[in-house]
Amino acid sequence: MKIIRTITEMQQQMQTLKAEGNSIGFVPTMGFLHEGHISLMKKARQDNEIVVLSIFVNPLQFGPAEDLDAYPRDFDRDHRIAEMEGVDYIFYPTAEEMYPKNASLKVSVIERTNVLCGKSRPGHFDGVATVLIKLFNIVQPARAYFGLKDAQQVAVIEGLVADFNFPIELISLEIVREEDGLAKSSRNVYLNKQERKQAPELFKSLLLAKAALESGERSSARLIEIIKKHINDNTAGVVDYIEIYSYPELQSLEKVTGRMIIALAVKFSKARLIDNIILDVE
Ligand code: PAJ
Repeated sequence: MKIIRTITEMQQQMQTLKAEGNSIGFVPTMGFLHEGHISLMKKARQDNEIVVLSIFVNPLQFGPAEDLDAYPRDFDRDHRIAEMEGVDYIFYPTAEEMYPKNASLKVSVIERTNVLCGKSRPGHFDGVATVLIKLFNIVQPARAYFGLKDAQQVAVIEGLVADFNFPIELISLEIVREEDGLAKSSRNVYLNKQERKQAPELFKSLLLAKAALESGERSSARLIEIIKKHINDNTAGVVDYIEIYSYPELQSLEKVTGRMIIALAVKFSKARLIDNIILDVE
């Protein structure tokens, strides 16, 4: 496995590999790898001759009051995990390498961002889109792998790839969870003991809504109420949002029908957790 830190070297390597007829599978991450990331690497390994993992905590997608400096990092551990999963290249650039001063262009995402995390994290998806445009041009993958843990991110990237004609197949994989249902996240390390105990209630609240749906409830407002009550009664977390939309369009649904997402974000003392379920409703 090779670690590459510069854009020029990465582009040259990828061009050579492509010219030799290899397909490149790409897993973009911010590191501090866990089972969620590993599921993406495993699938990429199955599908492609070459697997590239990027590790870059992207400053552009963090708001001024967010956890950029505190974001957990452990390159040595990530390196070992990548090696175990058969990754061929880790692209591990510095912020200076990715964002030299005096950029002359800015990316602005105009659809699918006025809801969910896009609403509570202004500029976040502009930062995600910017770094992915750069990474796609640097790595030039045939396939790129993303997790539905960040379902809005997947919806935004689908728009990006379609609008800007990237010849990349997007593959989105299910949320990987802890045994108690908590969605795996690099940010789970911020939870204190009591919060960690309460955190699985987020997924439980989504399952309650799913059960209500299965027994015939179709009102978004009432489903949201069920989730909110469960979270407020069972955790010390503060609800940031609980929303229901069509997926992947992210349009409002008064009465739920078709492919839809129920998504939530809850703030604990040091961690803001997100979770969702995507369902097909008759
Ligand atoms: P990061 O949070 O490190 O996540 C990298 C990828 O792992 C994303 O596609 C995310 O959806 C996926 N992932 C995280 N937790 C998961 C889980 N529990 N189950 C399944 N997949 C999971 O998302 C980012 O980084 C960044 O925004 C990035 C795309 C790298 C751009 O900077």
